[in-house]
Amino acid sequence: MTSSLLPTLPGEAYTSAERFAVEQERIFERLWFCAVHASEIAEPGQFRTVPIGRESVLITRDLDGAVHALLNVCRHRGALLCTEPAGRTRRNLRCPYHAWTYALDGSLVAAPNLKDLPDVDRAGYGLHRVHVREWLGYVWVCLAAEPPSFTETVIGAATERLGDPAAIERYHIEGLHIGRRISYDVKANWKLIVENFMECYHCATIHPELVRVLPEFALGYAAQYYVGHGAEFGPDVQGFTVDGSAGVERLPGLADAQDRRYFAITIRPQVFINLVPDHVILHRMFPIAADRTLVECDWLYLPSVLAGDPDIDRSVELFDRVNRQDFDACERCQPAMASRAYAAGGVLVPSEHHIRGFHDWVRRMQDLR
Ligand code: FES
Ligand code: FE
Repeated sequence: MTSSLLPTLPGEAYTSAERFAVEQERIFERLWFCAVHASEIAEPGQFRTVPIGRESVLITRDLDGAVHALLNVCRHRGALLCTEPAGRTRRNLRCPYHAWTYALDGSLVAAPNLKDLPDVDRAGYGLHRVHVREWLGYVWVCLAAEPPSFTETVIGAATERLGDPAAIERYHIEGLHIGRRISYDVKANWKLIVENFMECYHCATIHPELVRVLPEFALGYAAQYYVGHGAEFGPDVQGFTVDGSAGVERLPGLADAQDRRYFAITIRPQVFINLVPDHVILHRMFPIAADRTLVECDWLYLPSVLAGDPDIDRSVELFDRVNRQDFDACERCQPAMASRAYAAGGVLVPSEHHIRGFHDWVRRMQDLR
């Protein structure tokens, strides 16, 4: 008998350490990963370290202003080169173990006593380099030897969702500044967070503030269900704020069809972008274990707005509440994934059927050799 309920992944997909290791290798270490906001390494000599897949990746800005991504592992005996999540150096990065010293582009510039060994070619002992791109004001890196097309897999995801390549460009996200960043330590598998973001069947139950601003969300159809569709603000709503009060200055360049609308985009595997007329909310996930994911969420505004000491608290509070409501729900599901009741998984109702595409993609990626 056919049913309008489709099966989900089995519970084990969300709890198995082995499966998580395969996902780290075949998803997070192979695809483009949105690592840091460029402003975090704005100055020459600044660096950040970021966990990507099973690696620690060092992202630097060199003295000429170029951005580099390097594996954070000393080529001598393998010490973690930078142990801080962020820092700044005047010129070089020095390993704290035996003082091998690297330039900000990863090349080995000095090592004690090494010049006594003329047969050693320093050029062969630089830090391992990782592919790097900048887009939307963020630094994206890819650990694969041959990265997939950035245009197809990253920019293409936004185009596919919005139905028009120009749509995301009109927000000029690369020129926005971080008005607020909130980090969440979510005790749930990264796939539960993606699935939650993709559906709005839960909106009426757990997001009272969001549904008040976007009344159509009460119907349970996510903004991501239809290509190009943005959820419309309620008639009495002035802005995307916790109480529906007015937001800040509208982003210049938006089309009228983008005003008073909320658009959500998922860029697999770890980025969510939320577009509203006066700001952009961008989530980056850092999967740490099968049952733990760090999420960094940035609220991005026009620099001119932030310079004026605006009240952004009410807009931040709206999505901060949404995040907490969503992550609570994911954390409620996580322990149950190990239950015998969920061994064969659960079901998707028709308004969640697009999640099936995500599950198919996860299975395909896991099977890639
Ligand atoms: Fe880095 Fe020895 S491990 S200098
Ligand atoms: Fe939600």
